[in-house]
Amino acid sequence: MSLVVFPFKTEDPEVVVANLRVAAEHPSVSRVLAVGFEVESTYQAVESERDDMARAASTPIDLVLQERVGTKRSGKGDGMNTALRYFLDETDSERIHFYDADITSFGSDWISQAERAADLGYEVVKHFFPRSSTDAMITWMITRAGFALLWPRTELPRIEQPLGGELLFTRPVVEALVADERVQAQSDWGIDTLYTFSTVQAGFSLYETYVSQGKAHALYGGLTDLRTMLVECFSAIQGLAGEVVGENVTHQVEAAEAVPPSITEKIGYNLEVTLGLLSQNWTERQEHLLDGFPDPIRRGMLANRDAATFLFMDEEAWHLTYRRLLESFVPGDADWDELLFRLWITRVINYTATRALRGYEHAQSYLASMVDGYVHAAQSGP
Ligand code: DGY
Repeated sequence: MSLVVFPFKTEDPEVVVANLRVAAEHPSVSRVLAVGFEVESTYQAVESERDDMARAASTPIDLVLQERVGTKRSGKGDGMNTALRYFLDETDSERIHFYDADITSFGSDWISQAERAADLGYEVVKHFFPRSSTDAMITWMITRAGFALLWPRTELPRIEQPLGGELLFTRPVVEALVADERVQAQSDWGIDTLYTFSTVQAGFSLYETYVSQGKAHALYGGLTDLRTMLVECFSAIQGLAGEVVGENVTHQVEAAEAVPPSITEKIGYNLEVTLGLLSQNWTERQEHLLDGFPDPIRRGMLANRDAATFLFMDEEAWHLTYRRLLESFVPGDADWDELLFRLWITRVINYTATRALRGYEHAQSYLASMVDGYVHAAQSGP
């Protein structure tokens, strides 16, 4: 039997409560856990509804506050790691599932699909979804690109959505994650990267299950909304560089189906607001930090002080930029954070203007071939 966990902050309480109810009513679920960031309106709504829901479904629904487990900014990582510890200490369930609490398209099938893969013997199951071609820009440009450049011979760059928060772990996986100090320290947005990395490094088998209706949740405005996540996801990869990962992991990916227009036609972020960011917040120190970058990148970036310029930041330039960032980026340094953010925006706008505008299919195959290109480049040496 399984424990299903929803970490949450302030979300639409009706959505969170509906998702808890779906989980509690699922026949494979013996307990549901909501992990709140703090006591606020969503937490109170869950608290007032959970007894009635639990009685109606005959499944306990627990509510806890996340503990301070890690050493980075206290965020999603502390919430998920709190749940892993709860699973080991308070339950004898065999499997734990995680789902984001704010998903309006969540359904009982999501749990069944993961259970079916675990029944086949897979130790980790991750859900993946069709995503708009301008969404998933941290996934593609930071995580999959970084996995390709650093561990080209492994399964890591082939994982569809390494940052996805919808997944299942079996008990031995949870034991390994709780025993892994790097994972427990990662209290911020880097947690998804660490879970993906650590489970592949430990050799656990992985199944990726496809959810065709997609993950409906709030849209981003300008890419600023993603700034903290970007910096924390890049720092997580940088912190792992130098680790050794084996090549032999069982990894199965379910075939994807036709993608609905609601996703192929969706624009993932506000382009006009984002273009404006290229010329803002420059400091003299950021200009100096660019001295260490190859010249076309340095010159191109500096030109952005006067007018938005991004055509130079193609996949080759991003490769060189990424390698330089891996060597030199200093986590927690405000100028490095801003420069990383600006470099990434330049890359995302370049991709949007030259690829995403050519249509969904073109964009998807371009992104996949970009990652393949990085895998090949990294295998053939520096
Ligand atoms: C990603 O890149 O996957 C982030 O969720 C932002 O879309």
